[in-house]
Formats: sequence, structure tokens, C-alpha cells
Amino acid sequence: KSNPMWGGRFGGAPDKVMEAINASISFDKHLWRQDIRASKAHVAMLGQTGIIDADAAAKIAEGLDAIAAEYEAGGLVENPALEDIHMHVESRLKQLIGEDAGRLHTARSRNDQVATDFKLFVREACEEAEALLKALQAALIDRAEEHAETVMPGFTHLQSGQPVTLGHHLMAYVEMAARDRSRFVDAAKRMNLCPLGTAALAGTPYPVDREATAKALGFDGPTRNSLDSSSDRDFALDYVMAATSTALHLSRLAEEIVIWASQPFGFVKLPDAWSTGSSIMPQKRNPDAAELVRGHAGRVLGALVSLATMLKGLPLAYAKDLQDDKPPVLEVRELITLSLEAMRGMIAELTFVPEKMRAAAASGHATATDLADWLVREKGVPFRDAHHISGSAVAKAEEKGVNLDALTLDDLKAIDNRLDETALEVLTLDASVASRTSFGGTAPERVRKAIAEARKTL
Ligand code: ARG
Repeated sequence: KSNPMWGGRFGGAPDKVMEAINASISFDKHLWRQDIRASKAHVAMLGQTGIIDADAAAKIAEGLDAIAAEYEAGGLVENPALEDIHMHVESRLKQLIGEDAGRLHTARSRNDQVATDFKLFVREACEEAEALLKALQAALIDRAEEHAETVMPGFTHLQSGQPVTLGHHLMAYVEMAARDRSRFVDAAKRMNLCPLGTAALAGTPYPVDREATAKALGFDGPTRNSLDSSSDRDFALDYVMAATSTALHLSRLAEEIVIWASQPFGFVKLPDAWSTGSSIMPQKRNPDAAELVRGHAGRVLGALVSLATMLKGLPLAYAKDLQDDKPPVLEVRELITLSLEAMRGMIAELTFVPEKMRAAAASGHATATDLADWLVREKGVPFRDAHHISGSAVAKAEEKGVNLDALTLDDLKAIDNRLDETALEVLTLDASVASRTSFGGTAPERVRKAIAEARKTL
């Protein structure tokens, strides 16, 4: 028999495969809270404006509450013949309150309904991601404070470049997270207009109060164009783009944790709670969570490509392709939530090994730039020449098989007789980091200021 919701002009039932390809309940069931919330706002407005009578509106609202309680307690029974969450709710409403259930869908279409539900869902997802980013920042800032003076090698090309502090390094990720937070805040703000009441595509002849439903659902106001509203998914794209940027940043940090936890580095030890063992190699303590954060970034990017590609060729207004907007967003929300929570946990609980970091920083001639800067500052040598002289000192150290700071005064004098004992002092790691007091630099006093500023944003 034909579909009870739209089958009036149909004689027969859909093919089984038609039913299967058409059904979205297996994933849009995750939107049931938003669907019921939006329906309640809609029916309250229908009652207030007299589009339906107040008794029917009250009955429908009660029925919707009863369904919410049911779903909360035991989930819902999926029926592919009922296609999606919207028809599941309405059909259950009919079972509960009878014919008046049919009045709920007055002056709306599933097109504005799904756009509204999905916006509510995505807006929450933005708020959730922003809060999780803030929690990650708090963990990073705490560890940065603890290690404001801990010296580690700063790398370029993963080659020892100049010494930095671990606090400074961790604060770099606080900056990335700040930008990501602003992306989610910005996205949530931009999407905050309500599509409900634009109906199928052209608006509706009923005297709907779109301001009222927008307000009831926490939107800044109604959307301005019905064709755009029922087919716009920019808001989902904005969310997934912000999540992609977040995932890429998390992936970089995850990669560093993987490197730092490796035996040749040994900069960090992962606690039991954040590592896994091997079923064959008893000594193993693997950084699986970090690796999965790195892996998940690929899936988030995949979801972005899938969503963007789905949207690119659609004529106005609604097309069923738009139903496929949900799986990528649902996947991204799950992955980004897990990734942010795992990263916060790892950062808060991993053990840094300052001795290893210091030893690595000391072994790479990482203060060669400081020696060149000393020649510029103290002796007025042009930087290019100073660079060359310092390079000769590195060559001398390599020839002797020692680190740059182990050269003697005689060694230095033999290279350039303008070098004296105060030049030896700038070769130490602590002097090097302490000297980098420029705004945004790695000197511990600078890092402490950056930490204080960042705390204000939490
Ligand atoms: N399940 C559909 C979706 O997610 C709801 C909208 C159906 N609209 C329609 N014209 N068939 O997009």
C-alpha cells in the first residue's frame, strides 16, 4: 500500500530497494531532540496565531513531550517505510493523540523542518567543540606554566634550530586552538537565522509568525529567502571546515607526541591511561590515542570533501542529495569530540622528561645563532660575516666531537680573535632562551606573560 504521509497520488508501494535508498532514519534519528523541539515551537506558534485551534495545539505539544520521554527512555523503533525522523515522530504522534496529529504539519514542509533541526544540531556541535577546545587550552596552559623554563630543542625541518622552552612550544598550540575557537563561534553566529516557516521552497500562505518560532528556538531572527533557506547547508560546511582546521592542528600535536614518545627522543612518557600494549612485544607502550587523533584528521577532511562535493551541483531549492549532509556531520562531531577529549587527557597526564629535552637541545649546536648575534652586538660584525664565523665554530666543535658550548676560549680565539670569554656565556642554552625577550619570543618571562594573557580567554 502507498505511503501514509504522501501516498495520496500513488497506487502502489515502493520497491524494497527504493525504500532502502530513500530511508535516512538510521542516521537522522540522532536529530530527534531537535526535531521535537522545533515541532514544539512550530505548534505553539500555530496555536498562538490561530492557524490551528489552541486545544489541538496543546494536545500536539503534550503528545510531543510524551514521545520525547519515550525516546529518552528507550530510543526509537526504526521503520524504513517511515523514511526519516520527521515521519517517525509524526506517525508516533498519530498513534498517541489520533487525527489531530495531522495538524502539526500545517504551514511547514520537511524541507524547512529538516533545515531547522539540522541547524539546531550543528549549532550545538559548534558550541560543544568550542567548549572542548577551551578545555584543551586550559590543559596546555597549565602544562606550559609548569614548564615555562624547561629547555627543549626548537626545530625547523625537524633539525635542531634554536633552543626554546617547552612552555613556549605548548603555547603555540594554545594559539591554534584560539583561532579554531573563533571559527566555531563565528560559524555559530553566522548560522543563527531560523529557516522554519519557509515551507517547501516558496513560503506559505498561512499567517505564520516566523519571528516567534525563531525566538523560541534561540535564533536571532528568521532567514530572509525561502529558496535559500530550504537548500542552504553552508552552516554545515562552516562547522565541518572549522572542525577540519581543528583536526589538522590536533594532528600536528598528535604527531609530535608520537615522535616525543619514541625511544630515540624520549621527551615524554605516556601514562598507562593513555597508552596501549602489544600482544607480542611485552615491552611496548604505544601512543595509540595520539595516532588515532592523527588518523581521525584524515576522516574529518574526507567528510569535508564529501559534503562540499554533494553541494556543488545542486540547483535551487531542495534536492534529496541534501539528505546526505548528515552522515559526514555526524561523523565529524563524533571524531572531533573524541579527538579533543583524548588530546586534553594526554596533555594533562603525560610526563615530560626535561633531562632528555635538555640533552637533545645541547647536542645540536643549537646556540650557533647566539654566537653570531654576539659578534653583531658586541663587535659590530655584519651578520653575514658573523654567521660565517659561528659556522666555523660549529665545524670546529664537530671536528673535536663535542658540542658548541664545550669549545674552549683558545678554540674560539683561533677562529676569530674578537671572540672572548663573554662569547662563551651566550653559548649556554639558558642564556639563549633567556635572551629571546621580543614580543612573542621564547624567554621564560615572555612565556609567563603569554600564559597570563591566554588565561583571560578561558
Ligand atoms: N529526510 C529528508 C532529509 O533529510 C527530509 C526532507 C525530505 N524532503 C523531501 N522533499 N523529500 O533531507
